[in-house]
Amino acid sequence: TKEQSHKNQQKSPDIILSELPKERGWLSEHIHQYKGFWYATGVLQGLLALQQQHFKPKPNTVLLASYPKSGTTWLKALLFAIKNRAELDFNTHPLLSSNPHELVPHLEVYAFKHPTNPTPNTCLMHSHLAFNCLPELAYCKIVYVFRDPKDVLTSFWHFIQKSRPTELPFISLPEAFDQFTKGYSPFGPFWDHVMGYYKASLEFPKKVCFLKYEELKKDPIFNAKKLAEFLEQPFSLEEESEGIVERITELCSFEKLSNLEVNKQGTHTEFFIPTITNNVFFRQGKVGDFKNHLSDEMIEVLDEITKQKLDFDLMNT
Ligand code: A3P
Repeated sequence: TKEQSHKNQQKSPDIILSELPKERGWLSEHIHQYKGFWYATGVLQGLLALQQQHFKPKPNTVLLASYPKSGTTWLKALLFAIKNRAELDFNTHPLLSSNPHELVPHLEVYAFKHPTNPTPNTCLMHSHLAFNCLPELAYCKIVYVFRDPKDVLTSFWHFIQKSRPTELPFISLPEAFDQFTKGYSPFGPFWDHVMGYYKASLEFPKKVCFLKYEELKKDPIFNAKKLAEFLEQPFSLEEESEGIVERITELCSFEKLSNLEVNKQGTHTEFFIPTITNNVFFRQGKVGDFKNHLSDEMIEVLDEITKQKLDFDLMNT
C-alpha cells in the first residue's frame, strides 16, 4: 500500500530487511519476502535503493523483464540488436565480442552497486523484479519473456550447480522443486511473477509485450518483427529484402552465441559472484529438456499448479 511504502521510505534498508520473513536462498544465503515476492538480500537492497532514490529512465527506455532462466540472455541479444540496428555493422557487432549481459545492464544489480544514483545510463535494461515491485516506469516499454515452468526449474537447478557461491550448501533437485512449487524460489512465486506481467500486457498492450520462449523458438523471425513493431522501429521493406531480420535472428541464435569465443571462455562480473563465466548462460537452449530431469510426479504437480494459476493456455495463446 501507499502508506506502507511511505513508511518504508523512511526506514533504513537494514531495518526493512531484518523485519521481513526469510527463507533459504539458492544463490545467496537468504531470500526475503517483500510485496509478495522472494528476493535475495542484494536484490532487495537494489530494489529499495530504486524506490528511495527515484528511478529516472531516459525517454524511450525499454525494460526487458523475466523470471530467471526464461530466456533473458536471448532477449537481451535480440532487443539490443533490433533496437540499435541502424548504428551497428554485422562484421563488428558488439554481440560478437561481448556477452549480452555486458551490453544490457541488470537494473537491480546496478542499483545495488550505485544506491545513490540507481538509474543505468542506457536505453535498454533488464530486471527480474515482479511487476508490482518495479519503480516508476512512466517512459518505459516492457518486454516480458515467459517460459514453461518445467524448463525454467530444470534450467535454474543446473544454473545453481554451476554458479552457486562455494560457501553455500548443495541443493538437490527435489529441494529446489519443493521451494519452487511452494512459491519461495528467488523472484518467486513464479506463477505470480508471470501473471503480474501478463495482466499488465492485457491492460496496456502498447506498453507491455508478452512473449513466450517456446514460440520464439518456433518462429524467431516472426517474433523479431513483432518486437521491432512493439519498439516502434518496424523493419522496413528494404531491410526485409536485404535479409536483416534473418541476420539478426541468426546472430542471436543459441548456436551462434554459444559458440563465440567470448561466450565459451569469457567472464563478466555480477554482484553475488565476483566473476561469472559466460558459458553458464548457455546450456541446451531447447524446449522440453525437463523430461530428462523431472520425475513424472514433479511434472504432474507443476502442470496442475500452472493450470490453476495461469490465465492462459501455456502453449496456445
Ligand atoms: P537451458 O538451461 O534450458 O538450456 P536466462 O538467459 O534467462 O538465464 O535463461 C537461460 C536459458 O536460456 C538456458 O536454458 C539457456 O541455454 C537458454 N538460452 C541462452 N541463450 C539462448 C539463445 N540464444 N536461444 C535460445 N535459448 C537460449
